[in-house]
Amino acid sequence: MTIEVHPTGAALGAEVKGIDLSQPLQDGDMDAVREAWLDHQVLLFRGQQVSDDALIRFSQYFGELNLSPASATDMAGGQAASRPEIWIISNVVENGKPIGALGDKEADWHTDMSYVAEPPKGSVLYSLEIPPAGGDTSFANMYRAFETLPDDLRRFVEAHSCHHDSSTTSVGETRAGFAAAMDVREMPGEVHPMVRTHPETGGKALYLGRRRNAYVPGLSLEESEAVLDRLWAHCEKPEFAWTHQWAVGDLLIWDNRCTIHRRDAFDPHSRRVMHRTQIKGGKVF
Ligand code: SIN
Repeated sequence: MTIEVHPTGAALGAEVKGIDLSQPLQDGDMDAVREAWLDHQVLLFRGQQVSDDALIRFSQYFGELNLSPASATDMAGGQAASRPEIWIISNVVENGKPIGALGDKEADWHTDMSYVAEPPKGSVLYSLEIPPAGGDTSFANMYRAFETLPDDLRRFVEAHSCHHDSSTTSVGETRAGFAAAMDVREMPGEVHPMVRTHPETGGKALYLGRRRNAYVPGLSLEESEAVLDRLWAHCEKPEFAWTHQWAVGDLLIWDNRCTIHRRDAFDPHSRRVMHRTQIKGGKVF
């Protein structure tokens, strides 16, 4: 099989054809996939039939894996994942318990697990069941967002860090074991620079995590809110984004070091079941 890489034509993303992820990959194919990932930031593989073991094997070509993140549903005893590296994202409830996390609500723009000291460098998401409408996932290019900042914001982000809250998920649920947010200056989580240098491409990208409960240390609450609102309005511009409408068997891998993503809400009466892995990253510089 010959691998083909077809860019989406948007600010990021490419579809990779000619590859069967249910089988181990040849070295040459893997090198081509890794290079395409760094060039396009998000890769789409359609029509795949991968078991959890095959999903983990593919993800491990990119590095060691993190265990799945904790969320309210995990702690409530849902999560029926076959292996601890697999995070189930689903609205399905079985025997009165959610089988996964994030439900059916909109997930705000974010980068995965930015609230830990060494956030995952990438995530892999595989679709097993898809609703008839909604639940699309959009990605945005944070190299472009950084390059196109107005001068004053560019100087600002180069000189500041951001605090990333760990208490709340991207759909706004408070994680089990955490209190609901009261004052964003006192939330649990991590501080990272607002601009990071990608360790493999050398490119500079905005690194903001998520808007909800974010705070810029050293500023008053009002100043922090105002500058974060301006930065997020910039990041959310459609020209930086690409949206994927899922079909069963689609697999996406994205680079958390230079992208953000969000998910549309969908009909709570339909079913959406996705399995995700997280590839270990390092400190943010
Ligand atoms: C996520 O990883 O944030 C979830 C994306 C999705 O459910 O499409």
